[in-house]
Amino acid sequence: MFQGQLVTLRAYKTEDVEVSLKLLEEEGLRDTLSMEVIFPYSTDSQKAYIENSMKKNNKNVYNFAIEDKKTKQYIGSCGINEYDMNQRIATIGLWISKDFQNKGYGTDTLQVLCKFIFDELNAFKITLFYFDFNENAAKLYKKIGFVTEGIHRKEQFRYGKYHNRIYMGLFREEFFKSE
Ligand SMILES: CC(C)(COP(=O)(O)OP(=O)(O)OC[C@H]1O[C@@H](n2cnc3c(N)ncnc32)[C@H](O)[C@@H]1OP(=O)(O)O)[C@@H](O)C(=O)NCCC(=O)NCCS
Repeated sequence: MFQGQLVTLRAYKTEDVEVSLKLLEEEGLRDTLSMEVIFPYSTDSQKAYIENSMKKNNKNVYNFAIEDKKTKQYIGSCGINEYDMNQRIATIGLWISKDFQNKGYGTDTLQVLCKFIFDELNAFKITLFYFDFNENAAKLYKKIGFVTEGIHRKEQFRYGKYHNRIYMGLFREEFFKSE
């Protein structure tokens, strides 16, 4: 369990399955995430996803439930989608429930997650991408210290047209400078 000012990042529990499905259905949330989650998920597939992320031997994927530190309410998800052990590069993602956006939870979550990745996994670099229409994500990542490294033109089809994917990266010194 890892704590920030506002959030606790903890392991998933089976009872998170139903709540996470409900939160992911919120308008404007799922469409900012990667392709696999744009279509409705069944309870069974979400359960399998969460159970897989709880497996002890799942070395390359770390999936944290985000909890409001005060109320212990489950409010979102974050983690490492892929960890390249040779290059020590972690690719991350996160989402916060609508009701908790624009209140500092995303900033706090990302600070805790990046600290975990650098200090516990000894990663060399953290990478991520977002879709060009996602202004909230762009603002948040820049604030944490992420630097834009490249634009993949028209690789994401959403809302009936293609959008660019923006790739960003963060080194340890860039992160700790912004903390
Ligand atoms: C992108 C996302 C993670 C941002 O998280 P968030 O919790 O809304 O972001 P924050 O609240 O930390 O920061 C946004 C604004 O909230 C306000 N804020 C920050 N800290 C605050 C605090 N302690 N108290 C009150 N307001 C605060 C600020 O206005 C801040 O903007 P700033 O950069 O000008 O300071 C969130 O919008 C989200 O989950 N979106 C849907 C999924 C998604 O897009 N995921 C990323 C895919 S790449």
